[in-house]
Amino acid sequence: MTTIFLGAPGVGKGTQAVLLREHVGWVHVSTGDLLRAARRDDTKLGRRAQSFMDAGDLVPDELILDLVREHLASLDPGASILFDGFPRTLPQAEALDGVLEELGRQVNQVLLLDGDDDELVKRLSGRRSCPNCGAVYNVHWSPPEEEGRCDRCGADLVQREDDAPDTVRRRLDVYRELTEPLIGFYRESGREPAVVDGIQSMEEVHQAVLESLGMEVDCIPKTAETGE
Ligand code: AP5
Repeated sequence: MTTIFLGAPGVGKGTQAVLLREHVGWVHVSTGDLLRAARRDDTKLGRRAQSFMDAGDLVPDELILDLVREHLASLDPGASILFDGFPRTLPQAEALDGVLEELGRQVNQVLLLDGDDDELVKRLSGRRSCPNCGAVYNVHWSPPEEEGRCDRCGADLVQREDDAPDTVRRRLDVYRELTEPLIGFYRESGREPAVVDGIQSMEEVHQAVLESLGMEVDCIPKTAETGE
C-alpha cells in the first residue's frame, strides 16, 4: 500500500503521519525530515539544500528524486509507505509513478489535508522542537512546562529557520503555485484525493484520516508528537 499526504505547510501532515505510523505501522517517508537529517549530518546534499529550505523555497527536483530513490531502496519491499511532503511538484509526481512502477508498486490513495492560511501561520510560527529527542511543542496551545526547555529530556528547544513568519508566507505561496496543481494531477489520473479538514483537534483529524482511509476509528495513541 502506498499513500500520499498532500497539504500546505503546517496543516498537520507530519503529525498525522506519525500517528498512523504508531497506529498501523506504516513506514513514514518525509522528505523534509530526510533533508533536515542530511543537514545535521553535513552531507553534500544537506549543504546544497540549506539555502533553498531556509528561504522557504523547494529543493530542486533532481536532488529530491535521488534522495527518495535511495531511501526507497533501503526499505522493506513489502512495507506500506506513507509519503509526507513528497511529491511536491508535477515532475516529482510523474517521476514517483515511474519509480513505484519499477518496484511493482503504485500510488493507492491520496489524502489532502485542508486548512486556512491564518491558522497555518499561527501553528508554524508557534512551533518549537527539541533537537535532542524530537519532541514538538507549540507556544500557543501545547507549551513546555518551562519556557524554552524540553519536558522530556531538558534540552533547549529550537525554532525551525523556515518557521519565521515571512518564510512561512513564502512556503504557503510556493505550495499554492507548485504543489496544489497535484490535486488536479491525481484527480485526472483517477486517483481523486480524499479531503480531510486539518483545522480540528489532532485527535479529530486522526479519526477523520482513519475513516477516509477506510480504517477502524480508534482512540489516539498516547505519543502525539511529530519527529521533527
Ligand atoms: P517539510 O518538512 O515537508 O515542511 P512543510 O510541509 O512545509 O511543513 P511542515 O512539516 O512544517 O508541516 P506539516 O503539515 O507536516 O505540519 P506538522 O504536523 O509539522 O519541508 C521543509 C522544507 O524542505 C520545504 O520548505 C522545502 O524547502 C524542503 N522540501 C521538503 N520536501 C521537499 C520536496 N518534496 N521537494 C522540494 N523541497 C522539499 O504541524 C505543524 C505545527 O502544527 C506543529 O507545531 C504541530 O504540533 C501543530 N499541529 C499539527 N496538527 C495540529 C492540530 N490538529 N491542531 C493544532 N496544532 C496542530
